[in-house]
Amino acid sequence: MASSWIGHWRSSAGVLTICLFVTLLTCTFRCSDCANPSNIILILTDDQDIEMGGMTPMKKTKALIGDSGVTFSNAFTASPLCCPSRSSILSGKYPHNNLVRNNSISGNCSSVSWQKEAEPSAFPVYLSKMRYQTFYGGKYLNQYGSKEAGGVAHVPPGWDQWYALVGNSKYYNYTLSVNGKEEKHADSYEKDYLTDLVLNRSLHFLEERSPRYPFFMMLCPPSPHSPWTAAPQYQKSFIDVKAPRDGSFNKPGKDKHWLLRQPVNPMPNSSIEYLDNAYRSRWQTLLSVDDMVEVLVKKLDSMKELENTYIFYTSDHGYHTGQFSLPIDKRQLYEFDIRIPLLVRGPGIKPKQTLQSPVMNIDLPVTILDIAGVNLSTVNMDGQSFLPQMAPSLRNGTERPFFLVEYNGEGYTSEDPSCPKLGPGLAHCFPDCVCEDAFNNTYACVRTLKDGNLQYCEFADNESFVEVYNLTADPHQLENIVKKVDPALLQTMNQRLIKLQSCVGDSCRNIK
Ligand SMILES: *[C@@H]1O[C@H](CO)[C@@H](O)[C@H](O)[C@H]1NC(C)=O
Ligand SMILES: *[C@@H]1O[C@H](CO)[C@@H](O)[C@H](O)[C@H]1NC(C)=O
Ligand SMILES: *[C@@H]1O[C@H](CO)[C@@H](O)[C@H](O)[C@H]1NC(C)=O
Ligand SMILES: *[C@@H]1O[C@H](CO)[C@@H](O)[C@H](O)[C@H]1NC(C)=O
Ligand SMILES: *[C@@H]1O[C@H](CO)[C@@H](O)[C@H](O)[C@H]1NC(C)=O
Ligand SMILES: *[C@@H]1O[C@H](CO)[C@@H](O)[C@H](O)[C@H]1NC(C)=O
Ligand SMILES: *[C@@H]1O[C@H](CO)[C@@H](O)[C@H](O)[C@H]1NC(C)=O
Ligand SMILES: *[C@@H]1O[C@H](CO)[C@@H](O)[C@H](O)[C@H]1NC(C)=O
Ligand SMILES: *[C@@H]1O[C@H](CO)[C@@H](O)[C@H](O)[C@H]1NC(C)=O
Ligand SMILES: *[C@@H]1O[C@H](CO)[C@@H](O)[C@H](O)[C@H]1NC(C)=O
Repeated sequence: MASSWIGHWRSSAGVLTICLFVTLLTCTFRCSDCANPSNIILILTDDQDIEMGGMTPMKKTKALIGDSGVTFSNAFTASPLCCPSRSSILSGKYPHNNLVRNNSISGNCSSVSWQKEAEPSAFPVYLSKMRYQTFYGGKYLNQYGSKEAGGVAHVPPGWDQWYALVGNSKYYNYTLSVNGKEEKHADSYEKDYLTDLVLNRSLHFLEERSPRYPFFMMLCPPSPHSPWTAAPQYQKSFIDVKAPRDGSFNKPGKDKHWLLRQPVNPMPNSSIEYLDNAYRSRWQTLLSVDDMVEVLVKKLDSMKELENTYIFYTSDHGYHTGQFSLPIDKRQLYEFDIRIPLLVRGPGIKPKQTLQSPVMNIDLPVTILDIAGVNLSTVNMDGQSFLPQMAPSLRNGTERPFFLVEYNGEGYTSEDPSCPKLGPGLAHCFPDCVCEDAFNNTYACVRTLKDGNLQYCEFADNESFVEVYNLTADPHQLENIVKKVDPALLQTMNQRLIKLQSCVGDSCRNIK
């Protein structure tokens, strides 16, 4: 297995050969050791699912990125919550290695120790060393800009142009850190709508940059996160759209862990009305992201950079609307929350491909650094490059056999005053006092795709609860088969989980 990682090593001679070889074939691929390294763009949305139809409104994005490159049908987040997921993308590490536990500063979300320990080796730092001109725009980490952690003056290393949102996603009335200086915004659509502002600042960066060096841009619109504020022209779109009534919609979570046994089933009408409205508003906010992609692609084309640019489109995690009678949120181990959209176009990637290789958000930075020509054996990350899967003419490499999803439940030590009956230890109990999280919603899962489409999860609760799903027979995860399955299989999965939960770097990729 070690050979797959070694396969990513590149000698200077090899780089030159690849460049000459590919230049002859397509005249497009550039790497930083060569005359014209490739540009890279990462578009990261907030809370956009793939399983519940989250990509349906993205017609232009699917045409301009997916149809011009690859669509991954098995892309996963390492943890289905904003701050842990975004921290995994920046660090290339599983939560047990980057130590970001939740969305609070006390859980290392944009904390001082994150700034000291993790940010100096996050992927933009390596890009900057390779002379990439770097741009960040939009939501960063949920606690970014808070006073306890340096306020807006803190600009993480590696970024040349920094336009980061203070705090969690918003569309209006927000504050940005503009290269360390506070910039306040009100609620005029033309001046302040955050998705459009991120696009406008990125276009400005493209105009101002030096054509001598490649660029990297990370664009992080708030869509489709709450408060779901659509642009004025889209507030009447999808007026008849409702959340999909899929296999687990409004079903009881009867054989599942404690939190999933609590929701009222069937859901009250008020919950259904709430989630249908949220679903529609989420789609409306995504139309501005779809416009962003179109404008960006046109701009790159007019600058004659489109063919030299990799564009990645993804989200931090999935989302659910009514599945197992949970009204709206993320945080759960099920497919709807852990699967993410992932589309990529760029040099060496053949158009209109759908790839089944399992890929994760911790792979994004490694893949980006691979494209940039960074020696991956000098990078301390848990993920692996998926450039070999996207562009086999450029790289050889193997797929991971299985992987880890880990999550730390959030809770509050005092009870929610609007739901006094529930007691402490819970969080996000709305609408209708249905809680989406609890301290004991803490779990780790091992997922296999090739050698059986299986998921095995262990909870850190006082029942040591275990959930096992056969996704081939039961794609909606209606039946927990822990009591039916061969105990030898449970033991194998438990052993894999133990290894993954303590893996670091190479041992996360080459697990048996
Ligand atoms: C990559 O880095 C490793 C570890 O520092 C080193 O042994 C190897 O020679 C480097 N490879 C190249 C192609 O520079
Ligand atoms: C936060 O990160 C620091 C190291 O950077 C670590 O010592 C601490 O335990 C982490 N906190 C949590 C809650 O994991
Ligand atoms: C923005 O803040 C102003 C002043 O507090 C308020 O009147 C307005 O409703 C807010 N707009 C939005 C979209 O929240
Ligand atoms: C973005 O730029 C467009 C085109 O110049 C302009 O119409 C729009 O008002 C700008 N929006 C923001 C939020 O800056
Ligand atoms: C809930 O909605 C259903 C379908 O629209 C309707 O038949 C039912 O009467 C409603 N129940 C209540 C309590 O409003
Ligand atoms: C992949 O490996 C094969 C066999 O070792 C080799 O012939 C080919 O050149 C390699 N391709 C790349 C892109 O490294
Ligand atoms: C976040 O994690 C920290 C450290 O484990 C914990 O003290 C805190 O209560 C957590 N926050 C929430 C909202 O669960
Ligand atoms: C989970 O936590 C809740 C709230 O503290 C508690 O009532 C419940 O008994 C716990 N369940 C398990 C299985 O640990
Ligand atoms: C689990 O822990 C909770 C407190 O977190 C307690 O209320 C409950 O009775 C415990 N359940 C069992 C089965 O021990
Ligand atoms: C999963 O389901 C498929 C299809 O029904 C079946 O062939 C396979 O044996 C099942 N795997 C396990 C581990 O139960």
